[in-house]
Amino acid sequence: HQASLTIDPALRVAPVRRRTFGTFVEHLGRCVYTGIHEPGHPTADEDGFRQDVLALTRELGVTTVRYPGGNFVSGYRWEDGIGPLADRPARLDLAWHCTEPNHVGVDELVRWARKAGVEPMMAVNLGTRGVQEALDVLEYCNIPSGTRWSDLRVANGAADPHGIRMWCLGNEMDGPWQIGHKTAREYGRLAAETARAMRMIDPDLELVACGSSGSGMPTFGSWEAEVLDEAYDHVDLISCHAYYEEKDGDLGGFLACSTDMENFIASVVATADHVRAKRRSAKRVNVSFDEWNVWYQSRFAAQEPFRDWPVAPPLLEDRYHLADAVAVGGLLITLLRNSDRVTAACQAQLVNVIGPIMTEPGGRAWRQTIFHPFAQAARYASGDVLRVDPVSPLYETAEFGDVPLVHAVATHDGDHTTVFAVNRSVDRPVELTLDTRALGDVRVIEAMTLSGPDVYAVNTADAPDRVAPRPNTGVGASPLRVMLPPVSWNVVRLG
Ligand code: AHR
Repeated sequence: HQASLTIDPALRVAPVRRRTFGTFVEHLGRCVYTGIHEPGHPTADEDGFRQDVLALTRELGVTTVRYPGGNFVSGYRWEDGIGPLADRPARLDLAWHCTEPNHVGVDELVRWARKAGVEPMMAVNLGTRGVQEALDVLEYCNIPSGTRWSDLRVANGAADPHGIRMWCLGNEMDGPWQIGHKTAREYGRLAAETARAMRMIDPDLELVACGSSGSGMPTFGSWEAEVLDEAYDHVDLISCHAYYEEKDGDLGGFLACSTDMENFIASVVATADHVRAKRRSAKRVNVSFDEWNVWYQSRFAAQEPFRDWPVAPPLLEDRYHLADAVAVGGLLITLLRNSDRVTAACQAQLVNVIGPIMTEPGGRAWRQTIFHPFAQAARYASGDVLRVDPVSPLYETAEFGDVPLVHAVATHDGDHTTVFAVNRSVDRPVELTLDTRALGDVRVIEAMTLSGPDVYAVNTADAPDRVAPRPNTGVGASPLRVMLPPVSWNVVRLG
């Protein structure tokens, strides 16, 4: 197959938003306990954080961390997670049918985030709680001192305010599985009033209203419209969540999953702009794609809920293969392509729970296959996002009709241009020609590919680098071209 694309700095979409490379840490399974935090671990630091996981988090290049949930937050009492450990209660976590020991709370998370060099993004509980508790946790986190909650934070050892800018107003409130599930009107009112009150404490917060839990939700479209009808003036962003998996052995269809993400974003942006037009508002509400990933949700759905309320059991521990990593690469390309309106995103989640990082309790940590496209995109995307619109052969999918084999985006920062591209063909390479005339005299500095003979190959603790980026030797000059292997994620750096 042959494909081509044109790179032209004039075709600028938006700046690369660093918050595109966010992650998510929920009190779920082993994400927190034996994930980021394990006091008895050989690499644990003075705060009980696993330094092997911290090092991998830095290498992954994540910029923000959403916390503490997820479904968990809709039953969470944040005060349980502060103060002396001995005084913290264990609680039932109804979302995941586990026991939450509360050994980690907001102060620990902020400390961890500082060590990892990432910005914390907090979610408040609008399932079982409301305006007052959201105000309390905001006061605790962001007021320097001199009030009940801020003085308590200082007494708990955090002299400086946490300074958290981004706050999610609840989680997936459209989902019938959510504790305190609401109709769009009920949630829209609560989100508006919570946001309005939070801004009385700090007008400069960036507030995220819950959008739909997926484009397949029965209320998708009307949910966003009704919530924004109520909350438009008070929020800055509306969330999207999406998870994808290969179904019924349809690998080609799965590799096209970013088409759903692309349509999802377009619909939410159109809905937000419709509400804007009705209100004659000058402001635009952007998208926070604050949960996205490959997740074999069908396997999880087949699992019985725990009956014995365990603490931090293995849950949602998907082992990702090469094709999953290529799907993740396609999703990253879509997020970047939409940087004009998607200004924040979080891959869900960071470690053990549908995560790019895996750990053994007390033992090793390693990179899953999906670690690599994320780390490369976070590292090499810089400057401006450029639209490249590949001219590519199409292939047929059951869900999306005809889809291009090559999905791509470029970024350009003056000195360097990087092309990110996936080849969705399950059996054929594609030769991609790059028209770089608008860049002047450039050559390929480095070309890397994540590909291989076994698309279902996974990384394990014993074989952690089975699937990893390798140099792409299929590069040609005049015209500049690069061979994209079947089922591959590719990075081409020009300069
Ligand atoms: O990330 C796993 C779960 O997926 C989150 O808790 C929830 O928000 C979503 O349904």
